[in-house]
Amino acid sequence: MTQDEQKSVPGPHFLETERFLLRFRRDPLSALQQIKQQYGDVVHFQMGKQHAYVLSHPDDIRDVLVVHHQDMHKPQQQRQPLVGNGLLRSDGEFHRRQRRLMQPAFHRQRIAGYGQTMIDYTQRVSTRWQDGMQCDMAEEMMALTLAIAGQTMFGADVEGDAQTVRQALTTVMELNAVGRAGPLDALLEQLPLSRNKRRSEARTQLDTVVYRIIEERRASGEDRGDLLSMLLMARDVEGDGSGMTDEQLRDEVMTLFIAGHETTANALAWTWYLLAQHPEVEEKLLRECTDVLAGRVPTVEVVPNLHYMEMVLSEVMRLYPPAWTIARKVIKDYHVREYTIPEDALIVMSQYVVHHDERWYPDPFRFDPERWTPEARANRPKYAYFPFGGGPRLCIGEPFAWMEASLVLATLLPTWQAQLRPGSQVGTEPLITLRPKGGVPMTLHKRA
Ligand code: HEM
Repeated sequence: MTQDEQKSVPGPHFLETERFLLRFRRDPLSALQQIKQQYGDVVHFQMGKQHAYVLSHPDDIRDVLVVHHQDMHKPQQQRQPLVGNGLLRSDGEFHRRQRRLMQPAFHRQRIAGYGQTMIDYTQRVSTRWQDGMQCDMAEEMMALTLAIAGQTMFGADVEGDAQTVRQALTTVMELNAVGRAGPLDALLEQLPLSRNKRRSEARTQLDTVVYRIIEERRASGEDRGDLLSMLLMARDVEGDGSGMTDEQLRDEVMTLFIAGHETTANALAWTWYLLAQHPEVEEKLLRECTDVLAGRVPTVEVVPNLHYMEMVLSEVMRLYPPAWTIARKVIKDYHVREYTIPEDALIVMSQYVVHHDERWYPDPFRFDPERWTPEARANRPKYAYFPFGGGPRLCIGEPFAWMEASLVLATLLPTWQAQLRPGSQVGTEPLITLRPKGGVPMTLHKRA
């Protein structure tokens, strides 16, 4: 592709690009929104030698994720020892095989089996909370989803190990969150800094525990009903009939841990934040929970009856999509409308930008669960909403996440009201996931 053809895609040039990148580093969400407003649904910019294209029309996004997915790979970031070659990062035939192997672990019935763990752990939280207690709701939800992830992954028999895993994982996550993933990160990781040492120790600790659990499980051959058992038993019947190596199992376990708890925790933290500011929505949701539960403890069976819950959570993830952007690397020249995107270019699709587009969501910053009635949904293009991605790489944990978020709220909401502490300013912090900046400071009130 010639330089002239590159220029035919609208986008910032030279100095403007520098300004855009500076802004992007400071505030990626508004930088992406601004270039879309200025240049439209297909925007080109360049970072050094890397060409990048931002696509913001739902139909173009559908084409990348669904129709032409085979022309794309996942961009390979430098830093990857934690998740290795797990499902989030692998590509091509290997990814297809792993997806086939892992899909049964996320079968509806299997997810229902994890539901009781979700309820039990949430009830523990409810027992610990006290009337008038002040908390950071983001932290509360992160600890809860991490505990649920540990339990559903390794099961009840290894509570002690799950604790070690949780702690080491928290260390790695916290240290990874220091600073945004940038080009200097790989270099910085080589330096003998204390945080690098702590991170590497935590990783070794994680590996030791995970490999030991794998070995014990292989020896016993027992199905304990948890995710690890499913992954251990999985055989690629459509392929060569083999299972996973220990190393691959380790990578997949870590991937599920990482991909599976922070996203849902953020969705929950944003839900509490929005409910606190919209008492009419909170009241309607509470009414639905009390009507459906009729004084009983939630069960997995009630979730399909929580219709307003689904509308509220959909609207929360529209306004604050936990995964705020998806990227792909083009493996051969790719055509979008009248443009050609060259091989090796990066395609960036931002849920945050599309979910705030006035064409699909009038008054886009307003929190309004009524946007999620079946009629309202039918009037929008499908990929105007893609919090879980789409196509063959659609989030494998989506049913798990819906079940978890619904059960956590249905368990806590009838007993607890959370009030935002006066004067709290909660901004967005787009790290790997979209976190509430500085947490969500709240006061808990026990309902009469
Ligand atoms: C609200 C919660 C969640 C959100 C918003 C979310 C979002 C996403 C998105 C957008 C992708 C696609 C990334 C891409 O195409 O590049 C994805 C993939 C993935 N998610 Fe989730 N996720 C959530 C919960 C979970 C849970 C609970 C699990 C596991 C228990 C999980 C495991 C995964 C895995 C393994 C992939 C890779 C799938 C593949 O490439 O085949 N996620 N997630």
